[in-house]
Amino acid sequence: MLQKLEELKKEFRASVKDLKDQNSLAEFKADYLGKKGKLNDILGGMREASGEVRKSVGARANEFKQEILDTLAAQLTKIETAEVNAKLKKSWQDITLTDDVMARGLQSAGFHPVTIIQREIEDIFISMGFDILDGPHIEDDFHNFEALNIPDTHPARDMQDTFWFADMAHLLRTHTSTIQIRGMEANDPPFKFVGPGKVFRCEATDASHEMAFHQLEGMMVGKDISVANLIYFMKTLLSEIFRQDMNVRLRPGFFPFVEPGFELDIECLICGGKGCKVCKGSGWVELLPCGMTHPNVLRAGGIDPNEWNGFAFGLGLDRLVMMRYHIDDIRHLHGGDLRFVEQFKAY
Ligand code: DAH
Repeated sequence: MLQKLEELKKEFRASVKDLKDQNSLAEFKADYLGKKGKLNDILGGMREASGEVRKSVGARANEFKQEILDTLAAQLTKIETAEVNAKLKKSWQDITLTDDVMARGLQSAGFHPVTIIQREIEDIFISMGFDILDGPHIEDDFHNFEALNIPDTHPARDMQDTFWFADMAHLLRTHTSTIQIRGMEANDPPFKFVGPGKVFRCEATDASHEMAFHQLEGMMVGKDISVANLIYFMKTLLSEIFRQDMNVRLRPGFFPFVEPGFELDIECLICGGKGCKVCKGSGWVELLPCGMTHPNVLRAGGIDPNEWNGFAFGLGLDRLVMMRYHIDDIRHLHGGDLRFVEQFKAY
């Protein structure tokens, strides 16, 4: 019996290595340890054996049984791990990688210059006590136009400028001024916030126009806010961003949501004021339209204009990037050319 047991052991050890999947493992186990399995087959002769023999064979048989169980368990773990690894290898996917990037090999990441500027400006405003707000890209007529004192007949509503949805009630926001309304709806005065984001216009593109670009809206509402407050914040902003003395000029400007409204221009940094394609030869770049919030806008935002007043501004982030990094065509910003974006990695 002992000899048979030893032979069975040898057979087991030799063949267990060939098992490659869970099914054959289970079959194998039944084959050896099942009621009618090989082990019981040998032990069948125990009844006739003496007590002495029974004892020693029983002990050896139990050891063997344990060996079979341990070996099969280890083999099962091996098989399962191999199956999981094979699955992962086959369906492994990094959804952030485009075929293009895969083909060229991995590149280290960097921030887009618009993101760099946006974060810098957010920091400047946070240091002056402003909150940062957000708003949806898909807006309704009320937040993009109506509440901003833009009547039905205003040219800004012209189909050519706005990407409307088929229901003609929703649109891609044409400016971040929508965030003024959302900010007033969500806050009780006094407050001050900025709201950066992407905006969309159905326009032909050229060196200084894109269909999608970026603005940063600002609004401050309180008691007795004046144009002097507005100018103070704008000047602080510009000197922080450009870290140099800037030549600026303030002109009257018309925007339905402010009264009075202004255009704050900076001298073109691309050509130093001599005139180029970015400033369209004028030497000046419109950068910061702003003004004192129109009473109708406060009212639309649920604020009593007899008690509160404020200012607002809308900064063009793409232009700012172009001025700061001396980029002469806005289309580079969304061009998707890695050679362009890589230049801004370090900041
Ligand atoms: N929303 C305007 C635009 O996109 C920019 C603007 C002008 C924003 C004056 C303002 C403002 O907050 O006061 O053309």
